[in-house]
Amino acid sequence: PQNVGILAMEIYFPPTCIQQDTLENFDGVSKGKYTIGLGQDCMGFCSEVEDVISMGLTVVTSLLEKYGIDAKQIGRLEVGSETVIDKSKSIKTFLMKIFEDCGNTDIEGVDSTNACYGGTAALFNCVNWVESSSWDGRYGLVVSTDSAVYAEGPARPTGGAGAVAMLIGPDAPIAFESKFRASHMSHAYDFYKPDLASEYPVVDGKLSQTCYLMALDSCYKGYCQKYEKLQGKQFSMADAEYFVFHSPYNKLVQKSFARLVFDDVARNASSVDESAKEKLGQFTSLKGDESYQSRDLEKASQQVAKPDYDRKVQPGTLIPKQLGNMYTASIYAAFASLIHNKNSSLDGNRVMMFSYGSGLSATMFSLSLSEGKAPFSLSNIAKVMNIEHKLKTRTEFAPEKFVELMQLMEHRYGGKDYVTSKDTSHLAPGTYYLTEVDSKYRRFYAKK
Ligand code: ACO
Repeated sequence: PQNVGILAMEIYFPPTCIQQDTLENFDGVSKGKYTIGLGQDCMGFCSEVEDVISMGLTVVTSLLEKYGIDAKQIGRLEVGSETVIDKSKSIKTFLMKIFEDCGNTDIEGVDSTNACYGGTAALFNCVNWVESSSWDGRYGLVVSTDSAVYAEGPARPTGGAGAVAMLIGPDAPIAFESKFRASHMSHAYDFYKPDLASEYPVVDGKLSQTCYLMALDSCYKGYCQKYEKLQGKQFSMADAEYFVFHSPYNKLVQKSFARLVFDDVARNASSVDESAKEKLGQFTSLKGDESYQSRDLEKASQQVAKPDYDRKVQPGTLIPKQLGNMYTASIYAAFASLIHNKNSSLDGNRVMMFSYGSGLSATMFSLSLSEGKAPFSLSNIAKVMNIEHKLKTRTEFAPEKFVELMQLMEHRYGGKDYVTSKDTSHLAPGTYYLTEVDSKYRRFYAKK
């Protein structure tokens, strides 16, 4: 099979949200800390009737329906998530209900978990399957679904929630350039979830930022080396039209893109202009560690990168800024934003993708885009996702109500024997929701 990649996409996120400036006031932090300091506009979250399983059910059903795919045509289903609902039973098996009802139980794949990286692992598994000798001609389906919630404190405004589904097959408008991808994996305690009684992670914020940037440098270096070996010419940022990042919060994305600009200067890439060399050249003598801590370098590189950031990164920041960190779904929600903003004009473009999951696992890979034919075309994907409408029809929560909800969810986490309010007034028709967790911890869902 040729040009294996993403044929179709759908995104779902809860219609419940809170504005970051409202949260700033409520938390009593200085004005602009979340909106400018973190670069976030708004944060989505699951109300007590939604969770990663209901979002997965909603996004898969919607994708199959809107692209006219028969559930029997799916041969592999992979889920990426770091939200633990059960230590044994995979989220994938919950989603099997959709396929069983159509008589299809011959579907490989289970869940992949490593912080925000699980969706990328799931995606690679599906792409590799279609490219392999065990492929049976049917489609692969990838689901990234997460609810990111943090304890009260500085990390709380970096939460978020959402799910992305991607249909995988040959002759895709979004094709993988599989030969060039490069990974960086190592052991770190930057963000982890050792307390099984709590949904909240243990996080070393500063360390997680440095780990992210170090992994980015390492992946970019590896990507360039592989490209140069195979293509016989230098790779630089000028060779890609767009850059999409895993987005814990927008400020880190701004810093990441600036870091790549600095990397090109340090590598002496021929595409770097004189003015960038002049402004950033002085920092190339900094040792690795110093260069991650240097505020002067951070400031200078962000300034040099600004025009390119606006062109090459900003179109992929809409949903992450509006929703917050969706963990495994974050990078694919960023990519969905790019398709939403640029759709057909992406024909012929290369998009660089950087996926990061704490702990840590990271990969840089690239996608080659072409308009394609409906229903599997960039313009149709943008139409189906209908992102503007989904963003516009959300309901804002007051901060008191949000905190109350967080407390209820803390109490319910890992619990049994409760029924939800079944209040679906916020949900769009077709949305799945949680109705009950019975005395044997079995979960029940209904569709609005
Ligand atoms: N106006 C403008 N900017 C402000 C203001 C203000 N009033 N107040 C603060 N800021 C800026 C700070 O200068 C800082 O900017 P900088 O990063 O350029 O230095 C930024 O806002 C954040 O403020 P800090 O005080 O440095 O950090 P804080 O203690 O608020 O924590 C953090 C931020 C570490 C991101 C925290 O929210 C966190 O731990 N989040 C979860 C971890 C995370 O997402 N890590 C990313 C990779 S791992 C993953 O994906 C989960």
